[in-house]
Amino acid sequence: MDLVNGGTNCKGNEIVLESGDNHHNTSSSSSRHHYYSSREILQITLIFFVMIGVSGLVLYQYTYPSPFYQRSYDPSFSPTNPTKENQSPPSHGAMQGNNTPSSSNDTPPGNQISPGNDDKSLEKVLNQAAMEDKTVIITTLNAAWTEPNSIFDFFLESFAIGNETQNLLKHVIVIALDAKAYSRCLTVHTNCYALKTDGVDFAGEAVFMTQDYLKMMWTRIDFLISVLEIGYNFVFTDADVMWLRNPFHRFYSDVDFQIACDHYWFNSTDLHNSPNGGFNYAKSNNRTIQFYKFWYKSKDKFPGQHDQDVLNMIKFDPFIKEIGLEIRFLDTAYFGGFCEPSKDLNLVCTMHANCCIGLDNKIHDLKMVIDDWKNYTSSPDHEKFTKVITWTVPRRCF
Ligand SMILES: *[C@@H]1O[C@H](CO)[C@@H](O)[C@H](O)[C@H]1NC(C)=O
Ligand SMILES: *[C@@H]1O[C@H](CO)[C@@H](O)[C@H](O)[C@H]1NC(C)=O
Ligand SMILES: *[C@@H]1O[C@H](CO)[C@@H](O)[C@H](O)[C@H]1NC(C)=O
Ligand SMILES: *[C@@H]1O[C@H](CO)[C@@H](O)[C@H](O)[C@H]1NC(C)=O
Repeated sequence: MDLVNGGTNCKGNEIVLESGDNHHNTSSSSSRHHYYSSREILQITLIFFVMIGVSGLVLYQYTYPSPFYQRSYDPSFSPTNPTKENQSPPSHGAMQGNNTPSSSNDTPPGNQISPGNDDKSLEKVLNQAAMEDKTVIITTLNAAWTEPNSIFDFFLESFAIGNETQNLLKHVIVIALDAKAYSRCLTVHTNCYALKTDGVDFAGEAVFMTQDYLKMMWTRIDFLISVLEIGYNFVFTDADVMWLRNPFHRFYSDVDFQIACDHYWFNSTDLHNSPNGGFNYAKSNNRTIQFYKFWYKSKDKFPGQHDQDVLNMIKFDPFIKEIGLEIRFLDTAYFGGFCEPSKDLNLVCTMHANCCIGLDNKIHDLKMVIDDWKNYTSSPDHEKFTKVITWTVPRRCF
């Protein structure tokens, strides 16, 4: 929507500019033959100011094009982007050197240690982290997000200060996308798994929406297929989702796949909801395995697209009805984000730093989320229940 508006404005300006030019040419050519009349002077003055105004506008649009562009773009992209900033993905050498639970020594160097051929160590981590009903909580992290005082610290802190979330932390598996993230995970958390990806030049930085970046995103979907196939249910959560209440009290029971939303249209079964790939809950069964495989395969049908955008396109596909997958969309009142914050802190389960450009902005506003929550939990009960306490964010994020 914003993008469309921005485009229209630009076009409108161009038209004004053209007509201004024409006017100017006409009056200056005729002016050679006689003195200006006061009406002409007025006209010329007006045209002059119009042109200054127009060039000012054009300059404004030129100087600030990105907010329009990114804002409309971002809701679909930011949620699922641990790799958005400063992607520094794994280098094979570094990973192989680690004596990690996931590095299997009998794999020849340079070969992909993908979920598919490393099921044993994956199984070990899954088993170690799982709840009684074989459910795990999975997040992915890269180096930039595991820096001290960065996203990962807020993520961990949210479990500590949340309501009935402390016991969930032992079920969290961190999927490290590079060596640095992996070693940082090991220092602060129990269940760490190094996911290695083959065929990508990870020496440099994988910039948002480049081929490497997309490959990483899709590797994640591929990885989750393995989790389902091994027989584990999972809650997938981006690390910029703050866990403030136990979400299992709010999940639908007996649903194959439920997913948070950028925008929720007040009907959990309506496919027109805008799903957010950064938070979902999938039960391991034949339907979800087929669904995730279909999702993954659909990347070839929509080349250059992000997993969330592809999900948005395939959600209406008859194949999903055919396999009988039951999908539900989660209410932003419980599972909110910066795109659409939950309004009542008495209800909120999770808060996602979606709709946010820039790691610094994200960190800034997540800190405010943590502060808001601390303020809320320390306020007296009568205040909690008599006045509606809400967020002071987003501030720097959109
Ligand atoms: C957790 O939430 C419940 C229900 O809202 C509330 O009764 C309880 O006091 C909360 N616990 C803490 C430690 O805040
Ligand atoms: C919710 O959405 C479903 C699917 O679009 C539709 O069949 C149903 O009537 C909707 N419910 C309400 C209350 O609007
Ligand atoms: C899963 O579904 C497919 C297609 O509906 C079917 O062919 C297959 O037998 C099913 N597998 C199991 C284990 O139920
Ligand atoms: C924190 O709570 C106190 C008292 O409840 C309030 O005065 C203050 O404005 C709150 N701070 C923020 C950042 O919301």
